[in-house]
Amino acid sequence: MARFVFFGGKGGVGKTSCAAAFALLCAKNQQKTLLVSTDPAHSLADLFHARIGCEVTELAPFLFGMEINPAEESTRYINRVKNNLIQVVSPVILEEIEKQLDAASISPGSEEAALFDKMVEIINENGNDFDQVVFDTAPTGHTLRLMALPELLGAWLDRLMEKRRHALKLSGMAMRKGHEAEEIMAKDPVLTLLSNRKANLERAREVLLDRQRLRFVFVLNPERLPVEETAKAVGVLAKHGIPVNDLVVNRILPDDQPPGFWQKRKVIESSYLSQISQKFPAQRILHIPLMEMEIDETTLEKMAVWLAPLLEIKEADGVEGTA
Ligand SMILES: Nc1ncnc2c1ncn2[C@@H]1O[C@H](COP(=O)(O)OP(=O)(O)O)[C@@H](O)[C@H]1O
Ligand SMILES: [Mg+2]
Repeated sequence: MARFVFFGGKGGVGKTSCAAAFALLCAKNQQKTLLVSTDPAHSLADLFHARIGCEVTELAPFLFGMEINPAEESTRYINRVKNNLIQVVSPVILEEIEKQLDAASISPGSEEAALFDKMVEIINENGNDFDQVVFDTAPTGHTLRLMALPELLGAWLDRLMEKRRHALKLSGMAMRKGHEAEEIMAKDPVLTLLSNRKANLERAREVLLDRQRLRFVFVLNPERLPVEETAKAVGVLAKHGIPVNDLVVNRILPDDQPPGFWQKRKVIESSYLSQISQKFPAQRILHIPLMEMEIDETTLEKMAVWLAPLLEIKEADGVEGTA
């Protein structure tokens, strides 16, 4: 079973770069690695100069990539549900369900639901094929909503199952087959479908809560807003029982700055760095310097060196800090 590593953080802090650098590092260590981008602004393809789509694509030895488009995924998700239902429910019920689905497809959160569904699928389907699955997640707010969704989706599935049971009971009565209701329900394809989905969801949820298999890494820059947002995100995830194990402080200026502009920036940066180590005593804190060059495969390899500690999972993860 794979280990799952999520890279979260504000837009622009370096999530994609760090996720890609870490995935490359895993692959260099001959761990079969899948790098998944769920960020609408896809940049894995740019980084690896490859066409990456929603199918698993080989990028380098031991390294595979996959990009998920939330809008496409949302449409596909709704269609999948519709197609599943078309075969098994009466036209009247179908119309009602279609109305609900169409309403759902434009409601806020449907893209997150679809993305989460896809993530669940990846965890369940690709979990056994890879040693590491690295998620380059969407920015913080979305990610957090995703983590809260299993409960919402679980409740939604429960309600659908209840409705279906009710409908089956009614149709059973109309056909004077009340006594066979139990049997009909046991064989009902819609109920089977829904309960399979629920089981998948619960399996993924288990992974999400397994500290040995799932790690959450937050990337931030030594600046006020990213520090504040990270503190908030770490708190919210903790409430959902998901510990953030590691923080990556990215784009740190070199030490020996000449007097003037950059030295002043360096002083400000140092104060944020000490704030970070005070604010996050439970997290392991890694530093990555600002690179002089644009991020390409060579710079990714350099970044990977700083991320090497992530290959090792600390005991009592997220509880003790080494910072
Ligand atoms: N350590 C670094 N040194 C120099 N440039 C960096 C560094 N980390 C990221 N960048 C650059 O910053 C920009 C944003 O990084 P990216 O990884 O795309 O962030 P995110 O995925 O969080 O939006 C990119 O242009 C990237 O090349
Ligand atoms: Mg990105």
